[in-house]
Amino acid sequence: MTLFVDQTGQLGGAELCLADVASGRADSRVLLFSDGPFADLLRERNVPVEILPLKGSAARVTKQAGPAALLASVPGLTAHLAALSRRMKEADVVYLNTAKALVHGAAANLIARRPLVFHLHDLPNREHFSRANLAILMAAASRVDLVIANSQAVADEYGKAGGRTSVAVVPNGFDPARYANIPAEAIASVSSEWNPHRRPVVSIFGRIARWKGQHVLIEAARQIPEATFRIIGEPLFTDDDRAYARELQTLAQPMGDRVQFLGFRTDIPVLMAASDIVVHCSTAPEPFGRVLVEAMLSGKPVIAADAGGPREIVKEGVTGFLTPPGDVNTLADALRKVLADAALRERMGQAGRERAERRFSLSAVRQKTNTLLDRLSRKA
Ligand code: UDP
Ligand code: GLC
Repeated sequence: MTLFVDQTGQLGGAELCLADVASGRADSRVLLFSDGPFADLLRERNVPVEILPLKGSAARVTKQAGPAALLASVPGLTAHLAALSRRMKEADVVYLNTAKALVHGAAANLIARRPLVFHLHDLPNREHFSRANLAILMAAASRVDLVIANSQAVADEYGKAGGRTSVAVVPNGFDPARYANIPAEAIASVSSEWNPHRRPVVSIFGRIARWKGQHVLIEAARQIPEATFRIIGEPLFTDDDRAYARELQTLAQPMGDRVQFLGFRTDIPVLMAASDIVVHCSTAPEPFGRVLVEAMLSGKPVIAADAGGPREIVKEGVTGFLTPPGDVNTLADALRKVLADAALRERMGQAGRERAERRFSLSAVRQKTNTLLDRLSRKA
């Protein structure tokens, strides 16, 4: 049995990735530290899922937590770790998805003693983690058998942070059929609800969080009065994410219905098909960036922040443009250029689709992951 462990019941990119990997393996079981829509998605896909709730201050530890918050979480952890190690003992291999699962899993493994894989979805650096959390992450990662990095950028950063465990780079995988042949009626219904004036549509997809940089797009929107800007996603994790979401509403307010907030949606392929351009403008380097591959599979030109994973996904000038993170004016220039040229949009969209199908196929990713897991798997 392969036991997958993830901290959250929310639907972040790391969880959508895990859902695809776990449902592509015959003997999967998933253990989550809280219930939510991610657990529902796994149930829908018939993947056995168990919730092992993390309570009190241990549940509130974030990537940016300092030493005091980390210490306060310790008393609540003992029972949790004991239960986790009991579940781990039954597994042939344990797959720890993201940092919190890693830290708990590595500690529980002092007793369980199973082969461990850590799927690193984040850039392990001070832009994303507090000093204390980064040190704990790196110490825990040194105790696993294999690190899977979602991009070469993440693998390189792991090495730079002093990581010595062997690393396999496995990007996220996607089923192209999900993004192809979207019914015209579905697109028309989005347009009549959200775009009665039939303006060109620029969309950004992703959870609302300060480093995801939705404010950069709203600021660029001021310079492009002829287009509508759609922000799809919700704050998922921290109080600061929620505060940032309120700041975005205030920033966008003077532009009225030209900037639209659609909240969390499950019909991403339809909303991508109903866009002319997809933008990504994270201000800190993006570890991978699922939304970029999804936009390419939807045949859309992509303008993305030039750092981290997006450099491995977008081919500059061919499938879209890379602009400096946080640079509003260069983003606005790129948007104007692509909005003004329907043939360019078509060409870039087509090139993007071909590139994404070639490089980010779900079946290839499942195969690669299964091979890695089979190699480590040891009968419990
Ligand atoms: N997503 C979604 N609904 C939304 C916004 C985003 O299903 O309203 C999905 C999106 O399609 C993508 C994932 O959430 O697959 C976000 O992954 P990404 O790697 O881009 O960013 P993350 O949030 O993991 O940092
Ligand atoms: C994380 C990263 C994101 C990546 C996703 C899936 O949430 O922030 O960049 O695409 O994991 O690997």
